[in-house]
Amino acid sequence: MNLLPEAPAFARAPWLAPGWSLARRAPRDAADSEPAPPGPLRADAAARVLDSPFARDVIDGLGLMRKSIPATWLYDQRGSELFEAITGLDEYYPSRTEVWILQSCAAQIAAAAGRGATVVELGSGSSRKTPLLLEALDAPAAYVPIDISAEALAGAVASLRLRFPALRIEPLVADFTRLTHLPALPLPAPGRPRGRRVLFFPGSTIGNFTPEAAVGLLARLAQAAGDDALLIVGADATQDPRLLIPAYDDRRGVTAAFNKNLLARINRELDGDFDLDRFDHQARWDAQQQRVEMHLVSRGAQQVTVLGRRFGFADGETLHTENSYKHGLLKFRALVARAGWAHRQFWMDSRGRYAVHVLERSAA
Ligand code: TRP
Repeated sequence: MNLLPEAPAFARAPWLAPGWSLARRAPRDAADSEPAPPGPLRADAAARVLDSPFARDVIDGLGLMRKSIPATWLYDQRGSELFEAITGLDEYYPSRTEVWILQSCAAQIAAAAGRGATVVELGSGSSRKTPLLLEALDAPAAYVPIDISAEALAGAVASLRLRFPALRIEPLVADFTRLTHLPALPLPAPGRPRGRRVLFFPGSTIGNFTPEAAVGLLARLAQAAGDDALLIVGADATQDPRLLIPAYDDRRGVTAAFNKNLLARINRELDGDFDLDRFDHQARWDAQQQRVEMHLVSRGAQQVTVLGRRFGFADGETLHTENSYKHGLLKFRALVARAGWAHRQFWMDSRGRYAVHVLERSAA
């Protein structure tokens, strides 16, 4: 059994400073939130529910009228590997489009960032895009990758240390949606200048939050990052379902495996008995909310047990595992403005599929 420890490693990090305060966690989609009905739990299982945020979210989420589990739990070691495979798929245009845009605009981002920047990356995963930025920056002081998967982070840091031996790298294993603090900036190595903070948030991860939660997260980041901070954020911009559905339901079934890995993880870590063959992966486009939804659809009526507790699925009932919002440019600008960020620059591919934005703290 491999439950997450109660106190994540970052809570004890010596370089946590109180100035970097973030709210406890991003709010969940309010429309989907119905409390789980109370029911009997075995004493040991009850204790584990209290002990583990993963267990709590799963038990709560399976008890909702419309079952849903927060998307952060998709990213264990296996999930991070599968997600990495998704980013290489033909159908998944956002990754290669973002890389291409970053290659074209890195010099301009570097000019905006100035000398001695500290780069803080949210949900860094494999950090595959980070070298595009680090290589362009003038004498970066430090790199702080934050990711929920310790394994993905360790792999990324090992290869970045080889590639950037002089750069100070301070990884942080944490769910950035629940951080109570952002790390204080590490001091630059002797002889290196200290410049501004550059938050790097690629991969259209911002789209995985409801608009309200995205405003909340960006506002907390604005507050925590300080006056002269920059935020570089990548965001999917397509609203064409003919492009979107294959991107989230690929031919080879990699995205299906990524989605179903959540059930496998529940089986592994929370004594679950999900039969993976009795759930189908589904991607839906909700035109009104402008989001792709990921679901796991029950094949037939069935019961599952997690931590000794039973949950029923009706035939065709779904477990909602992810949203990916596709905001238009005007909407995106309005959203970041509400969070206290000024929209300075952006780059988009010629087909208007994806954008990289540079935001700066707006004067209060
Ligand atoms: N940030 C990515 C996105 O919204 C995450 C993602 C890509 C994803 N493919 C997925 C999440 C499939 C769940 C399932 O595009």
